[in-house]
Amino acid sequence: MQPCYNKIMKTYIVGNWKMNFTIGESSIYLHKLLKRISPIKGIQIAVAPSLIALQPLSLQLDRKKIKLCAQNCCAKDFGAYTGETAVAQLRGLVDYCIVGHSERRYVFNETDKDIRDKVSACVRNNITAILCIGETESERTFGETADVLRDQLTSGLSDIAKEDLGKIIIAYEPVWAISSVKGARVAVPDDISASIDLIRKHLKDTFGKDAENVPVLYGGSVNPSNCGAYLTIPGVNGLLIGGSSLIADQFIDIIDIAKRVK
Ligand code: 13P
Repeated sequence: MQPCYNKIMKTYIVGNWKMNFTIGESSIYLHKLLKRISPIKGIQIAVAPSLIALQPLSLQLDRKKIKLCAQNCCAKDFGAYTGETAVAQLRGLVDYCIVGHSERRYVFNETDKDIRDKVSACVRNNITAILCIGETESERTFGETADVLRDQLTSGLSDIAKEDLGKIIIAYEPVWAISSVKGARVAVPDDISASIDLIRKHLKDTFGKDAENVPVLYGGSVNPSNCGAYLTIPGVNGLLIGGSSLIADQFIDIIDIAKRVK
């Protein structure tokens, strides 16, 4: 039986700029977006620039239009951790923080424990964690998708109480569909909907009815031509966009389509 989805009011369109743009380029790009975007009821737009650009961009931001998101954080709250940035230091700058992106898991070898501690640090500091989960190509080939998603969810949320769910967003990003991955394939909605159902069911089994309010985003090769189809998958509440979020026309097209679809 298909899980029953509650009507989460907001649609999230989040641009993950990854390690692109200098501070100057980020500022010019944000300026362009702010000029062309108006506040849209029911749509929450956020961008995740490099860490070094967060502070300057926060000064030019119109938070009614766009919110800021960090791409990563340290799970510790201050101390001798050279090169790290505590979530407490991001307070006031960002509303969201991406945690457990596959590039952090597989390029920088972040463990499930690292990710769980980062999710907790976000919640503790009142910043919404966007917890990324997703199977690799070989895990999908070997039929392990369901186990991988359940394990990543269980582990990532194991320190989270029901009362904290308001600070959690899940992003389903199958690694094989991320444009920067060698040999990436664009996922079709059928590929995605089974995983979304599984994520929703797992959240409900773990946290009960309150979990229906947790937004679940899709990410992986999203562009203006396919975003409408992804946004109409039952249980999908938004998109986490890499490559297309770096091109103003494409990002704005996606926002316009989201406006029409939702
Ligand atoms: P692409 O949209 O470039 O595939 O990136 C997806 C992603 O990793 C967003 O976090």
